Amino acid sequence: MSDVILELRGITKIFPHPEKPVIANDHVSLTLRKGEIHALVGENGTGKSTLMNILYGILQPEEGEILLNGERKTFKNPRDAIAAGIGMVHQHFMLIPSFTVAENLVFAFEPKKGMFVDKKKAVEIAREISGRYKLHIDPDKKISECSLSMQQRVEILKILFHGAEILIFDEPTAVLTPQESEELFKAFEELKKAGKSIIFITHKLREVMHIADRATVMRKGKVVDTVEISKSSMEDLAEKMVGRRIDVTTRKIANSDFAPEKERESVLTLEHVSSGVTPSGEQLKDICLKLRKGDILGVAGVGGNGQGLLVEAVNGLLRNIKDGTIAYEGQDITHSQAYNVRRLGIAHITGERYIRGVSADSSIHENMMMGPHRRSPWSGKVFLHVKKLRELTESLIRTFDIKASSPDACIMELSGGNIQKCILAREITLAHDLIVAEEPTRGVDIGSIEFIHQQLVDKAKAGYGVLLVSTDLDEVLSLSTRVVVMYEGEIMGEVNPELPDARSRIGRLMAGVQAS
Ligand SMILES: Nc1ncnc2c1ncn2[C@@H]1O[C@H](COP(=O)(O)OP(=O)(O)OP(=O)(O)O)[C@@H](O)[C@H]1O
Ligand SMILES: [Mg+2]
Repeated sequence: MSDVILELRGITKIFPHPEKPVIANDHVSLTLRKGEIHALVGENGTGKSTLMNILYGILQPEEGEILLNGERKTFKNPRDAIAAGIGMVHQHFMLIPSFTVAENLVFAFEPKKGMFVDKKKAVEIAREISGRYKLHIDPDKKISECSLSMQQRVEILKILFHGAEILIFDEPTAVLTPQESEELFKAFEELKKAGKSIIFITHKLREVMHIADRATVMRKGKVVDTVEISKSSMEDLAEKMVGRRIDVTTRKIANSDFAPEKERESVLTLEHVSSGVTPSGEQLKDICLKLRKGDILGVAGVGGNGQGLLVEAVNGLLRNIKDGTIAYEGQDITHSQAYNVRRLGIAHITGERYIRGVSADSSIHENMMMGPHRRSPWSGKVFLHVKKLRELTESLIRTFDIKASSPDACIMELSGGNIQKCILAREITLAHDLIVAEEPTRGVDIGSIEFIHQQLVDKAKAGYGVLLVSTDLDEVLSLSTRVVVMYEGEIMGEVNPELPDARSRIGRLMAGVQAS
């Protein structure tokens, strides 16, 4: 077929491991058409990132070949791939924070004026490509001052500057708000119009249906199918991914399952909490909240409207609380340290798994016992109960279906979604009465999302309070017993998620429109 720009044929990648080698890609084949948007979907640890890293020359396959415009290619490193017109935008951006946008864009290929870098020309280049692809940037701004979505646009422009014809994105929307994702998709359309071809990995099937032309579904290292989106459905894709039907939308919790609110004890109370302004300009303004046992209180809002600070405040991580009080089961924790808050049994499931969630140099076991190791029955007065801790990790790996070769493997060997499950398992074990779940399913596949959601619902039904902070409106709507919306550091209002028009009510509050 003449419109095929790229073909991957029988790619196999095996990671050696003392106990059992991991076959991350098992004879994977995929074709990419010129000018198409091709989604790559599948459960966590299924080999999507591995495949893309092979295409980009980061990893070498054991078997298989890459054909570009019908010609066989080998990429020993990303430089080879870039030279062949392939660019990749990673999830963790690789820009230099102290350089400006324009400087980053032309980095290593700077226009010169005599011996010096021609900064004016760099800005011109930045303006030109940014205009051509309608990707808005601010050429003179330092990267450290740019939002994540602007940094992502710089990465995209950078690979276009290097002449990319094929653009690879590994979960590009995981760090974006719904509005920013929408903008990214507009850019995808522009790129498509310009004849570029895109492969993007995502766990959000709604996005696939919205933007992709075709999708390739992988399961356990193999390709299950490649489908035309116009002839497929979300349920269809979900079933191909996990091998069973999955309910992708309905509410997981009914308010009628619980005793009336006033009969339930409160676990967390915030009264008029205000904070100083952070360097990024965020602030908490007069936050009042009451979370009772059995509540899943959803905190919705566009990312960066103070939700992060709210989570930090509850977890003893926010140092500049200026006013108000935070109480956990009647005990004042307003100025408590994180260590003490954790000791009380406030658990924190974070979506920032690489920054806050895990210790990257440690094993799975070491990561999973952090927290529980200070508690009975896993710790005595002086000594740790090593055997019990080991049993705990092993049973958590089983219960939470964490795909790991061994508890002693380094945590960073796990795929993103499996790291997320480790954090969940540990925090749920640690929790006494309150679970703070912040973007708990970021980067997690839909089978695991269903599982994580069920865990949270079960905990609420068992009488725990859950504070669910999420920018994913579907998640908030399907799980919460109550929803509050944050906007510019304030609580804009509360919405009953069982109302038929809850989504649009929340949407208005998210945009800063006060309920009438
Ligand atoms: N450097 C590595 N060393 C050992 N094993 C690895 C390495 N990189 C990946 N793996 C293993 O290969 C398998 C595929 O991982 P990969 O990261 O490609 O999955 P993925 O589909 O991108 O998952 P996710 O959706 O969670 O990001 C996993 O079992 C993972 O643990
Ligand atoms: Mg991945």
